[in-house]
This record gives sequence, C-alpha cells and structure tokens, in this order.
Amino acid sequence: MARSSHISTIRDVAEKAGVSVTTVSHVINKTRFVSEDLVKRVDDAIRELNYQPSGLARSLRTKASGSLGVIIPDNTNPFFAEVVRGIEDYCYKQGYSVFLCNSDGDPDKEYNYIKLLREKGVDGMVLVSTGNDSDSLKFLDQGKIPKVIIDRDIESLNSDSVLVDNLAGGYKATKHLLDLDHTRIGCITGSSQITPSAQRLEGYIQALKEKGIAIDSTLIETGDFKSQSGGDCLMRLMNQPEPPTAVFVCNDLMAFGALAAARQLEIHVPDQLSIVGFDDIAMASMIIPSLSTIAQPKRELGETGATLLLQRIKDKDTAQSRIVLEPLLVVRESSAQLVVNDK
Ligand code: RIB
Repeated sequence: MARSSHISTIRDVAEKAGVSVTTVSHVINKTRFVSEDLVKRVDDAIRELNYQPSGLARSLRTKASGSLGVIIPDNTNPFFAEVVRGIEDYCYKQGYSVFLCNSDGDPDKEYNYIKLLREKGVDGMVLVSTGNDSDSLKFLDQGKIPKVIIDRDIESLNSDSVLVDNLAGGYKATKHLLDLDHTRIGCITGSSQITPSAQRLEGYIQALKEKGIAIDSTLIETGDFKSQSGGDCLMRLMNQPEPPTAVFVCNDLMAFGALAAARQLEIHVPDQLSIVGFDDIAMASMIIPSLSTIAQPKRELGETGATLLLQRIKDKDTAQSRIVLEPLLVVRESSAQLVVNDK
C-alpha cells in the first residue's frame, strides 16, 4: 500500500481523536489535567497518524527548547569524551538533548559556536574555554543565556563554575617523584594561556621549592596538550648535558608521546626515567608500562556542571556556585625509585 506523503498535523490528531486542538496540546505538553479517556484517544490518534510534535512550535509556546549546548576544545582528546559523557547522561535523564561543538582550541570557532547556539535557542550552555577567548566571553556575558564554565577557569566571566584543584594535582605528581628520591625532575606543560596548565606548573614549582630544590628552566618544556608535542619536549629534555631522571607531564596525551619518545631513545621507563601524567584517561591503565598519573574526576566534573546549569535554567536568581574537585595520585608502572649508578 502506497504510504501517504501527508505529514500529520495537530489538527489531524484532534479530528481523529474527536477533541479540540487545545486538548491535544495539553496532552502533549502536560500543561493541564486531561481525563484518562481523552488522553488515550489522543495518544491512539498520534500513534495511528505517526504525528511528530514540532519542537520549534513547542519552544515558541513554552520559550524552552529542551536543548543545551556543550563546547569543548578538542573532541579527539579522551579526557573531554569522558567529561561530556557525564554531562550528556545527566541531561538526557532530565529530558534535555545536547548539541556538542568542538572549538578545536580556536577562539574564533568558539565565538561562532556560541553565536550559533544562541540563535538555535538552546536553553543553556556548558563551556570549556580555548584559553584565550576574551571576545567570546564578552559576547557570552552580554547574553542572558544560562551558562556554566567547567575545567578551565575564566575569572573575568561572571558564571557558575566547576573546576579541579590543578595546583594540588601538580604538587602531588611532583611530590610523588621526590618521594622516589628524584631531584632532577622535568616538567612538560600545556600552553600557559590554559589555566589548568599554568596551575599544574605552579604545583610542580611549589613541591620543588618545599624540598629546597632550585627551579631549573632548562627542565621545563611547553607542549600543546597533544601527544606529538609531548614526544618533542621529551626529546629536548633528554638531549641536554644533564637530563632529568623523572618528568611530570601536564596531561596524559603528552605523557603517551613522551613514553614513545623514550622508547625511540632506548631509555627504559621507569628504570632509567620515571614519567607521571595528568587526567587518568582510560588508556592510561592499559598501555605498557601503565601510566602513573593524576586522576581527574571527569564524569563528576561533567555531571556537576550539568546539574548547576539546569539549576540556573530553572531559577536564574540561584546564588552563583564555584565548585573545586580534588584530583588523586594513581601510581602505576611508569614511575619508580631512583636507581643510582655506582660508576
Ligand atoms: O588533556 C586535556 C587537558 O585540558 C586536561 O588536563 C583538561 O584539564 C583540559 O583543560
């Protein structure tokens, strides 16, 4: 039987169910009590006609789209995938759909996505900043759209935020290596414009100073949070007259690059070089050697951010929140006691 090309409307449903259009609307949007009998007649008509309520029509009526935007700086980094999973699982249970946007660390792209999400009428957005995005943030601040900042702090922005204590994480990673008797400890950071990177470096410096070890700038290299840069930085650290015996790397992807570079240099990890990362993405426990790292509460970061956003959407006058979560040291195979050669 040829399928009708007619797209059923709310009027078709009302006619078939023998009720008014208003009653159909109340049944769909649950905006007023309707008797069980009428609800069943409307539901049967919707099913038989394969009627699809218009999201646009609903949002025009209720001024809510039931959708949220999430902007992250690198959708190829598993860290963000785990954070977004926490956001999406929570929002889906609360009846919201999520539009995921990848700014690729580009402030212009981030700005365009913020603009697009506002034009699409999302009810709110979660933002992980690119790190150098003042125009986007001014634009975001003008709007009345509910927002929450997660992971990367933006002090200039008046917004709810959920962060991780990155200074404590950098301190714990470095203290772990000091406790293994390493004193010549390198650090591979991300861009200084990204607040978590700068804060982790601060934690590294604090731990060394506490131990009375002078800060040696030749032991500090700057990467870009991607694997290749971690390898390039490790090569430079190991090719100097007095290479480090341990390295704190400010995220796991760069730590994977550093491990690959150590293999290329035929440097054994951890017998000849200890490495500690940051994030504890799923792969960190599966690679060989498994990676000692600082575990970020990724799912909790996403879920807590989503919770604050939905609270803000429900009540725009809710008191502003700033939540800081605690990272934990996870010791695996890539870090070990310093072995002193007698020769
Ligand atoms: O791995 C990506 C890094 O950027 C993470 O450490 C996270 O904190 C993000 O800011």
